[in-house]
Amino acid sequence: MTVLTLVNQKGGVGKTTVVLGLAAVASARGLRVVVVDLDPQANATSGLGVWRPEATIDQALADERVGSAIGLAMPSGWSTDHVARPPQLIASSPALAAREQQLAADPFGSQDRLRVALQGLHADLVLVDCPPALGLLTVNGIFAADGVVVITEPGAWSVDGVAQIVHNVTRIAERRGGSPRLAGIVVNKVPRTRDGRYWHQQLAELHPGLVLDPFIRHRAALTEAAAQSLPIHALQRDGVAEAVAELDAVLCALLGLPGAESSDETSAGDDSLENGDFDGDV
Ligand SMILES: Nc1ncnc2c1ncn2[C@@H]1O[C@H](COP(=O)(O)OP(=O)(O)O)[C@@H](O)[C@H]1O
Ligand SMILES: [Mg+2]
Repeated sequence: MTVLTLVNQKGGVGKTTVVLGLAAVASARGLRVVVVDLDPQANATSGLGVWRPEATIDQALADERVGSAIGLAMPSGWSTDHVARPPQLIASSPALAAREQQLAADPFGSQDRLRVALQGLHADLVLVDCPPALGLLTVNGIFAADGVVVITEPGAWSVDGVAQIVHNVTRIAERRGGSPRLAGIVVNKVPRTRDGRYWHQQLAELHPGLVLDPFIRHRAALTEAAAQSLPIHALQRDGVAEAVAELDAVLCALLGLPGAESSDETSAGDDSLENGDFDGDV
């Protein structure tokens, strides 16, 4: 089992969208995927077609108990018509916001309750979606991870935020014998403009070896899939095949799977657009 936790203290960079996208391509490959929604806003929960869940991750964080999250996993609303093995979900609850404050008052184990709760879970891949803050929920996500994935947009302010989170994850790993590892920085919402590519290169220079080669372009298909609570494969529109290829390449790079398709293919032929401000929203 590999636990990947997707983080960025900034909201709106695409953590949830990429969690849902990776869940879609991994489950299309037949992997047993469990999504853990740690954000009280519950966007990953509704993106997986679940509303008002009875069991939520909040119950597992209430006290420290080995494997307490296992019984909380439920089927997502995604169908085998679209992905080989639809993911399972450990849902979020608005109560998580209050749980974070309660955790802060607990001097013991407030950082690794999720790690303990996930012990013994049967899955190939666990994807943890974090809230847009570096509070104890995100810290629990980081402590539970084998690999931390930083999601960012290519932009000036986003670049600063990435340095901050990379620093924090490195600090945690240094104190814990190198765990979790920084699995990589995934650049999301890459527009087809010179500026977007400039910030992608800047990030790669600032964090050598950490920025994944495959990246994810700005594509309306991804927003639509999440809004309709469907895996990206279920949509019939332009940009779906390209989005699937990009997400699959990111998944392969993160898991070290063979057959990663490079995003170079989709970036080829952009040159004619370099001077325009077209957003690549296909
Ligand atoms: N690659 C993308 N292309 C187009 N829109 C995207 C992409 N990634 C995210 N978005 C949109 O950006 C907004 C924020 O994304 P979200 O996943 O909710 O971010 P976060 O979870 O980091 O707060 C949403 O409206 C989402 O649909
Ligand atoms: Mg989110």
